[in-house]
Amino acid sequence: MTAPTGSVLLAGAVARLRAAGIPDPQRDARRLLAHALEIAPGRLTLVLPEPVSPAAEARLAAALDRRAAREPVSHIVGLRGFWGRDFRVSRDVLDPRPETETLIEAALSAPFSNVLDLGTGSGCILLTLLLDRPGTAGTGTDISAPALAVARENADRLGCDGARFVLSDWDAAVEGRFDLVVSNPPYIAEAEMPGLAPDLAFEPRGALTDGGDGLSAYRAIARAAPARLTPGGRLLVEIGPTQARAVSAIFAGAGLETVAIRPDLDDRDRVVEARVAAPGT
Ligand SMILES: C[S@@+](CC[C@H](N)C(=O)[O-])C[C@H]1O[C@@H](n2cnc3c(N)ncnc32)[C@H](O)[C@@H]1O
Repeated sequence: MTAPTGSVLLAGAVARLRAAGIPDPQRDARRLLAHALEIAPGRLTLVLPEPVSPAAEARLAAALDRRAAREPVSHIVGLRGFWGRDFRVSRDVLDPRPETETLIEAALSAPFSNVLDLGTGSGCILLTLLLDRPGTAGTGTDISAPALAVARENADRLGCDGARFVLSDWDAAVEGRFDLVVSNPPYIAEAEMPGLAPDLAFEPRGALTDGGDGLSAYRAIARAAPARLTPGGRLLVEIGPTQARAVSAIFAGAGLETVAIRPDLDDRDRVVEARVAAPGT
């Protein structure tokens, strides 16, 4: 029997994922076929006319089973692209999201030398900032030891020497001050969790929700930030699209002045930028 070509397997994969109700079956099928063929996704079109080995066909079948059960593509292939680099991801960390690139853009819009990333997860924010600004250094904290292991692996893979990672409840185990404090904390309210996409069941619950009103991390960060920022230092936090006003109010109560609310590419409020308020303001 002749082996099926990549094109034939791709058509079958798209049909399988469509039948399973996967939202973008064409995109996911292409990514999973490239993974099964152990080639870069950009080379897929080139090799589609060629026959596929039984081993690669078996890898594709296993990957399709997992995706049909709603496991995220990034977990199946083990990598997720963020700001032009591939990050290792697993069930222990939040998948880096495109929305978080809004925070990266805001952070890179002004100089910094020393960054504190609270709730670092895969390390995608801290490592991106340090790699894009050679000569800078920073600390990433997380309350999850398995998440920190993934962040350290990403630092090694990407050759980032300036990052250190600390097991810590927000900044509790951190010393010193930083000219940039960033965070993408868990901001989904407990009440919203049941309505979320099924793929999110594969991500750590503690990375998604605070188990309360979705704002408790901002209260903790607001308490911590004044003692962690150097004079003139910036605080940048990612928020859910409806949270800008509440987060700014929490910050104001802790002596932090909101200087900007930045939208994401879909024009939804996504980042609050604050600094320590000048005396008398
Ligand atoms: C939304 S995820 C963000 C991960 C990563 N920074 C990103 O943007 O993809 C939130 C992270 O905060 C961590 N976290 C939750 N509560 C924490 C706490 N009390 N102290 C430190 N980190 C915490 C979670 O473990 C998770 O890794």
